[in-house]
Amino acid sequence: MKEVLIAPSLLSADFSNLKSDIEMLNASEADWYHCDVMDGVFVPNISFGFPVLEHVRKHARKPLDVHLMIVKPEKFIREVAALDAMMMNVHYEACRDNLEEVIDAIHAAGMKAGVTLCPETPVNVLRDILPRVDMVLLMSVHPGFGGQKFIVETIDKVRELKSMIRECGKDVLIEVDGGVNTETGKLLVEAGTDVLVAGSAVFKATSPEKYIHELKTL
Ligand code: DX5
Ligand code: ZN
Repeated sequence: MKEVLIAPSLLSADFSNLKSDIEMLNASEADWYHCDVMDGVFVPNISFGFPVLEHVRKHARKPLDVHLMIVKPEKFIREVAALDAMMMNVHYEACRDNLEEVIDAIHAAGMKAGVTLCPETPVNVLRDILPRVDMVLLMSVHPGFGGQKFIVETIDKVRELKSMIRECGKDVLIEVDGGVNTETGKLLVEAGTDVLVAGSAVFKATSPEKYIHELKTL
């Protein structure tokens, strides 16, 4: 079985001690830093923006996986690229009318392109665009807040997406975000998930580093 990648979500980090949480992740088996940007319009919450992420970048020693929960994410491609982000995830629901253009612009800026689907959006909306994307991020909670309950139907979406990816013949990663812990993570990995995002489960653990190791070795 392919090794699962772990992307702890900084949304659950201690923002008053961000540097030490980033250093903990640097020393852990985490693969990426998952950075949730919210605008209070696309989702009913506001998290952090580029000035904070610039500080994250200064200390982070691993790739940034930026998840934009904002309207018109294409307006910020330059800012995300300036962070030297590896992956820029945009929501299908935020740019379905110009998705192809947005993906091309993300690639032109030197980043990998991820397309995110809210829980109620079926995976088949991506059938035509799939060969152009590097990753599909399936939300397993309604975006906007950490600490929510995992929506179990996501497992079936992973399976369906996995078979669509096989059919299209391109190596597209599947990432799942929301309510991921060792229990739900195990089911997700079995269904074909490549990248697990975990926020509260990691940062609320007595030993976040140990918890990341448990996720990594599911
Ligand atoms: C929610 C964010 C998630 C969040 C996940 O909208 O996209 O990345 O941090 O948090 P948990 O793992 O606590 O569900
Ligand atoms: Zn996220």
